[in-house]
Amino acid sequence: MKSSFATSLLSVLALCQHTKAAATCSNFTIVGANNYTKPSPMTFAVSQGVVCNGASDCPVLVGGDVTSQRTTNITDSTPDWAYRLISNATGYPFNATLTGAVENTTYTMQQGSSGYIGFTPTYRCTQGILSDCDNKDLDGTAVEACTPFGWEDGMINGTLAAVATSPETALALVCNPANTSLASSSNTTANLCINPVNSSSGNPTAPNLKGGAGVSSSVGTVLLSAALLVAMIGF
Ligand SMILES: *[C@@H]1O[C@H](CO)[C@@H](O)[C@H](O)[C@H]1NC(C)=O
Ligand SMILES: *[C@@H]1O[C@H](CO)[C@@H](O)[C@H](O)[C@H]1NC(C)=O
Ligand SMILES: *[C@@H]1O[C@H](CO)[C@@H](O)[C@H](O)[C@H]1NC(C)=O
Ligand SMILES: *[C@@H]1O[C@H](CO)[C@@H](O)[C@H](O)[C@H]1NC(C)=O
Ligand SMILES: *[C@@H]1O[C@H](CO)[C@@H](O)[C@H](O)[C@H]1NC(C)=O
Ligand SMILES: *[C@@H]1O[C@H](CO)[C@@H](O)[C@H](O)[C@H]1NC(C)=O
Ligand SMILES: *[C@@H]1O[C@H](CO)[C@@H](O)[C@H](O)[C@H]1NC(C)=O
Ligand SMILES: *[C@@H]1O[C@H](CO)[C@@H](O)[C@H](O)[C@H]1NC(C)=O
Ligand SMILES: *[C@@H]1O[C@H](CO)[C@@H](O)[C@H](O)[C@H]1NC(C)=O
Ligand SMILES: *[C@@H]1O[C@H](CO)[C@@H](O)[C@H](O)[C@H]1NC(C)=O
Repeated sequence: MKSSFATSLLSVLALCQHTKAAATCSNFTIVGANNYTKPSPMTFAVSQGVVCNGASDCPVLVGGDVTSQRTTNITDSTPDWAYRLISNATGYPFNATLTGAVENTTYTMQQGSSGYIGFTPTYRCTQGILSDCDNKDLDGTAVEACTPFGWEDGMINGTLAAVATSPETALALVCNPANTSLASSSNTTANLCINPVNSSSGNPTAPNLKGGAGVSSSVGTVLLSAALLVAMIGF
């Protein structure tokens, strides 16, 4: 069903490309930096929320799976041909998404802090110029394209850091949204880790979890990813 939807979507896109001038280019030249890394703009929760108000620092259990997406700065809906062109030039893949595991480990949160542990995928990026374009407006366009990548079998490359939140927000994150072994043993993946009792009583809920420590973090996205994963594993 998913692939037939994808196929009809592709047909529609193909139709559009035939009726309009096909916006494709056949040449991409790396100009400037290639294969450099930078943090992706998305941070995922990979632990449950913790309020560390005891007499010492708190070891926090960390791990799970996250799904990260490729990106470019040319348009909001960059078609696949551009990534294929760029991938051919760089020699590494730009898959639409990469789902990978985050190492099971413990991360120490400081006494007096509250929040959760966030994982920020690392992007591998390149810069270059499009040419030989059907749409002449695209000729000479400077592009940056970035993709998440794995660093070992099934692992996704990135960094861990504590994300500070209010104690209420931390308490509302009652489990680790990236922990798919938890998600796959439960029916209610959509709100598995955000405590609904707490959220309905006026306490901070999922939207507040996005804003921790000024990073663009999204527990909602993690929950959606977990739901998609469960859908893929098959019920
Ligand atoms: C691609 O563009 C670059 C820069 O304009 C040019 O040097 C190169 O010959 C082009 N390659 C092809 C196959 O057209
Ligand atoms: C890109 O850099 C990584 C190390 O960060 C290296 O393993 C890989 O071979 C490089 N790829 C290319 C095409 O240079
Ligand atoms: C994931 O959940 C399982 C229970 O299904 C638990 O045993 C494990 O410790 C959890 N791991 C992490 C990193 O949250
Ligand atoms: C892929 O890159 C090679 C050079 O690395 C080039 O000769 C070839 O034309 C490119 N193919 C496409 C489809 O862009
Ligand atoms: C990209 O997708 C291809 C085919 O869908 C797959 O074989 C490959 O392992 C993927 N690469 C990465 C880095 O996810
Ligand atoms: C982390 O632990 C879980 C069990 O809780 C396991 O299913 C998973 O494979 C482990 N992940 C890694 C990367 O070792
Ligand atoms: C995209 O990134 C490239 C390389 O950094 C830059 O030269 C170009 O101006 C950027 N384009 C847009 C629309 O931001
Ligand atoms: C991430 O990738 C870089 C470059 O390939 C590597 O040096 C580093 O050890 C990796 N770390 C993690 C945690 O993925
Ligand atoms: C889980 O799903 C099964 C079958 O879809 C259903 O019978 C059961 O009541 C559900 N359990 C919970 C806790 O929602
Ligand atoms: C959230 O609800 C759980 C049980 O439903 C409770 O144990 C916890 O103390 C509540 N947290 C807050 C901040 O109200």
